[in-house]
Amino acid sequence: MRLPEAPTKAISLGARGFRHGRSKQWFQGPPGGRQRYQRPSTMKTRVASALLCACITAFKPLSAQAPRPRSAVTHIVVDADQGRDTISRHIYGQFAEHLGRGIYDGVWTREGSGAWHLRDDVIAALRRIQVPNVRWPGGCFADYYHWRDGIGPAARRPRMVNTIWGNVVEDNSFGTDEYIELVVRIGAEPFVVGNVGTGSPREMAEWWEYINHPGGSSIADERKANGHAAPYNVRRIGVGNESWGCGGAMRPEFYADQYRRFAEFLRPFNDSTRPFRIATGPNVDDYNWTDVVMREAGRMIDGLDLHYYTVVGPWAHKGSATQFSEREWFLAAKGALRMNELVTRHAAIMDKYDPRKRVALIVGEWGMWHDVEPGTNPGFLYQQNTLRDALVAAITLDIFNNHADRVRGANIAQMVNVLQSMILTRGPQMLLTPTYHVFDFYTVHHDALLLPITIENAGYYVLGADSIPAVSATVSRDQRGVVHVTMSNVDPTQPRTIVAELRGVSATSAAGRILTAPAINSYNSFEQPDVVHPVAFTAARVANGKLTITLPAKSVIVLELR
Ligand code: AHR
Repeated sequence: MRLPEAPTKAISLGARGFRHGRSKQWFQGPPGGRQRYQRPSTMKTRVASALLCACITAFKPLSAQAPRPRSAVTHIVVDADQGRDTISRHIYGQFAEHLGRGIYDGVWTREGSGAWHLRDDVIAALRRIQVPNVRWPGGCFADYYHWRDGIGPAARRPRMVNTIWGNVVEDNSFGTDEYIELVVRIGAEPFVVGNVGTGSPREMAEWWEYINHPGGSSIADERKANGHAAPYNVRRIGVGNESWGCGGAMRPEFYADQYRRFAEFLRPFNDSTRPFRIATGPNVDDYNWTDVVMREAGRMIDGLDLHYYTVVGPWAHKGSATQFSEREWFLAAKGALRMNELVTRHAAIMDKYDPRKRVALIVGEWGMWHDVEPGTNPGFLYQQNTLRDALVAAITLDIFNNHADRVRGANIAQMVNVLQSMILTRGPQMLLTPTYHVFDFYTVHHDALLLPITIENAGYYVLGADSIPAVSATVSRDQRGVVHVTMSNVDPTQPRTIVAELRGVSATSAAGRILTAPAINSYNSFEQPDVVHPVAFTAARVANGKLTITLPAKSVIVLELR
């Protein structure tokens, strides 16, 4: 999709690209390794920004006093006969870290029997959205984690303090074998992240042997003794996490060498265990990181892991997940749209070293990061999830889909009870968030052929002096030949009429579902778990090769063309 640039002046998004310190350090500013986020822009980045602004202002700016336009018509052209790239289902990956109640309470519980076990309700819900992979055990936790602590009889596993996330005692009852059981039951593939920060190449290689060697070696036989005769055939492995920050505060030159050293010892035992090695990628717009790591280690990398969170306010006051103004709604959408620029520019650098696009860009952490819910442990990152989060998810997933040639994996942070979750739990209760429903809608795109679209007039959502494109979309054809459309209107005040010219599609009708809600901050609570839920969508017509949709304000739809 060619997204139109927003015809606006740049506005401050607060510290949206800035990242965080840890535990108590959130309130005191970032630790040493985080300084890089807060440095003033270098000359190079200023020049880049200036060029970008020049591009942006080349489009006709809307008047600062412009009245809100009445509902406009958005024209889209779908070139269904020009599909080339498959939308990897791995774009819909999840992330489960040993953080707060993400694992313990989230997927691993003592409810009922008193013994630790996986939660059937959460697993059933995750199966419904066809989760393709789950990234684990972190996040920052990965570079503290020693896999041997999490195998064998639970009573003999060491207890450690999770110093990075809330200083709670981690009993290691959820380790490698439990994680594999979880992903198997969800129907997902594993994606493990190895420890570079406090680990060694030997430790990572032995983990690889534990999970993947068929048997006969002492380490593989240890897995058998733990009740798992068959190897797990894991392919995806991250070589460290955020090695520029919590994973070791490394410079890209140093990390590239470390990556080469660690990755060298991840050997295949057979074709099912050929490693798909994922390098720590850039923090937001650190284009130098991408350049250096691709230049020095690109030939040994299968995936490069970009991290970007949408944060509305400055880091110390990111803002409430549920109590926000229309301006904060707007800024969230604008922050989500920034992903398009990040992916485009990182991909362009990757093209320099990898013109055939062998290396995947994996957006291994993304999503909205708000202030924690009042009264909860600040180290647990527990936040509510409103219709705003759902729109951010839809916009972001459309960007990934429309960059399917290079973006071949992504992991929203995080799966349950942490940041922008699919699911929240309270004791034995569970609820589905608005974001869950967007992931449900978008299952139609998993491994489907991306059909190129051109949005000729996205219909701008104007707020004060600023504006952004209101409409975002993906169109794909699945393996049965069925064409699906997902589309959102982020403008909370105006409906949009969409007229899509369908080139190369023969359809006579369209039907689907819509997600919207009474207010921009509507959300599902344990008291009212169904405030934001999908319903049938009937305002779409196909006639004379054109699809006409009346897209309500603040809504996401999925349609099947018949
Ligand atoms: O998702 C929370 C944290 O954000 C992860 O642990 C880390 O990788 C990132 O900075």
